[in-house]
Amino acid sequence: MGMPNIVEVKNLNAAYGQSKVLFDINLYIKPNERVAIVGRNGAGKTTLQKCIASLLHPTSGSVIYNGTELVGKQPYEVARMGLKYIDQDKHVFLDLTVRENLELSSYATGDYDWDKVFKHFPKLKILIDRKGAYLSGGERQMLMIGRAILGDPKVLLIDEPTEGLAPSIVDDLVTTFHELSKNCAIMTVGQNLSFVSRVAERVYAMKEGRLVAEVTDKADIKNNAYCEYL
Ligand SMILES: Nc1ncnc2c1ncn2[C@@H]1O[C@H](COP(=O)(O)OP(=O)(O)OP(=O)(O)O)[C@@H](O)[C@H]1O
Ligand SMILES: [Mg+2]
Repeated sequence: MGMPNIVEVKNLNAAYGQSKVLFDINLYIKPNERVAIVGRNGAGKTTLQKCIASLLHPTSGSVIYNGTELVGKQPYEVARMGLKYIDQDKHVFLDLTVRENLELSSYATGDYDWDKVFKHFPKLKILIDRKGAYLSGGERQMLMIGRAILGDPKVLLIDEPTEGLAPSIVDDLVTTFHELSKNCAIMTVGQNLSFVSRVAERVYAMKEGRLVAEVTDKADIKNNAYCEYL
């Protein structure tokens, strides 16, 4: 028998005021799986991740994480339970150093084992006294992920991880994501199809607030076959 799903989204709907944005979303994530959601600007990718992480309240539907209903919980509770969302805008604390950024996360999680952060991102050790404001986009992404893996989450939702990053940094992230998924499931959303083809084991195509296809075939993922649905 396969492992039970770590995340299950059922009949999820979401709206901003009167405008409906997500329509009957059904999806799942297996433990340690790497899943991607692809879709054009405004398709609803960020909204979906925020609903899963309880940063937005869906109008209806259910998000089951590790057997527990998340809808109605506070975002910090969800994060503490081991499901973390990393936003699109690479928000690190600009006035704080890398060390202080990590300390905040350690304080929140009780996890002071920074070796696991440096194992994935040795560069952060070198930059430890640098303020967030002086980090490059790639370094900020490392810090965001480094902060998120403290507390040993079981699921990372990562919004547009490659946006604005140099190709060589994107190559490093491909390796990082494979390594990270030994310890947790990862769901990325984005439009970088080359990255998706190298990282994802399963791809959902999203269009105008609906999941319109699920692609599992390796060759189809490699060839970005899901593009026809977008
Ligand atoms: N705070 C908000 N208030 C009102 N409408 C919003 C808000 N945020 C997003 N929307 C709308 O909801 C829809 C989905 O947006 P969302 O940001 O989830 O899409 P996305 O797929 O993440 O897009 P992108 O690729 O540009 O990041 C869009 O039509 C957007 O204009
Ligand atoms: Mg988005």
